[in-house]
Amino acid sequence: MFEERIYNFSAGPSMLPEPVLKKASDEMLNYGGSGMSVMEMSHRSKAYQEIFDETKALLKKALSVPDTHEVIFMQGGATGQFAAVALNLMGKTGKADYAVTGNFSNLAAKEAKKYGQVHIAFDSTDRGHTVIPSQSELDLDADASYFHYCANNTIYGTEWSYVPRVPCPLVSDMSSNILSRPVDVSKYGLIYAGVQKNMAPAGMAAVIIDRSLVGQELPFTPTILSYKTTVDKDSMYNTPPTYNIYMLGLTLKWVMENGGVEAMEELRDIRAGMLYDFIDNSSLFRGRAEKSARSKMNVTFTTGNAELDTKFVREAAAEGLVSLAGHRIAGGMRASIYNAMPVEGVKKLVDFMGKFELANKI
Ligand SMILES: Cc1ncc(COP(=O)(O)O)c(C=O)c1O
Repeated sequence: MFEERIYNFSAGPSMLPEPVLKKASDEMLNYGGSGMSVMEMSHRSKAYQEIFDETKALLKKALSVPDTHEVIFMQGGATGQFAAVALNLMGKTGKADYAVTGNFSNLAAKEAKKYGQVHIAFDSTDRGHTVIPSQSELDLDADASYFHYCANNTIYGTEWSYVPRVPCPLVSDMSSNILSRPVDVSKYGLIYAGVQKNMAPAGMAAVIIDRSLVGQELPFTPTILSYKTTVDKDSMYNTPPTYNIYMLGLTLKWVMENGGVEAMEELRDIRAGMLYDFIDNSSLFRGRAEKSARSKMNVTFTTGNAELDTKFVREAAAEGLVSLAGHRIAGGMRASIYNAMPVEGVKKLVDFMGKFELANKI
């Protein structure tokens, strides 16, 4: 039992900025004098439309989305997008390129195989997903309708530090690093993100799509996964996840009030730098990913001893540093340090790692 808020290193759902939660709490029973909670509002009401329009505009502003691209919100999380991307974009040539650098890009490729021919442009499975390919290592199919990659591999703790150059529309799963740095959206055909890490409570995906790619869906695409229908109906073909969109708006306001994605990037570098510096100088802990592939959002590390790892996770939790166990398929530890994680949280973690190291040196 904790009396106060703790540092939650969960990979997602994960920490939301405290001012965002406070604002939501203040507005919970009576939003802006409407006499009701946002949860209770009709999505067709004027008050809700204003929330929706503002959230969309804020996302465009935060990521400098060019006029060529549309912002939509869809249900089904990022996993829904694994299917939506293939259903909507595969039709052009019936083929697509996928880089498999972790669990989610693998799942995305598997899903796409149901709807067309998937060519694996790179696969790091046999290297335990500890690496990210260089541009020259990508085996690109000149005939692909699109190239899909996962910008940050949440489970394995690796991140692409460059934007791949490809001869077709670029599609990126940015679930776990969206809003952590500026992105040149014009380079992408489509960006999607499950919102439960850097954006809002779980339950939807934010999608940014080049309008020229809208309207190419396979004929059997379910209406609910159609980008064309979603764009045409401004994300309100059916009842949208109204509260998630409101929460995303609050998070985006917080991002903008705190210096935008440029400031988020600076803080990201401070947090990740502190952790990796400690790990690199530690005689007990070591990083899981290759240095050149390291994620600045999900830091994966281990002592190399499963029992000691478990002890670390347990003792850290008792200190208010929770959810540090690695994903079951990767093992070890994982500290997810998204935008909402205060630098003090990482400092406390590093201090605890130092104490644990001293107490458990062999
Ligand atoms: C990079 C990435 N892609 C996709 C997913 C799947 O997201 P969802 O659970 O929203 O379907 C996750 C979930 O953690 C993720 O980290």
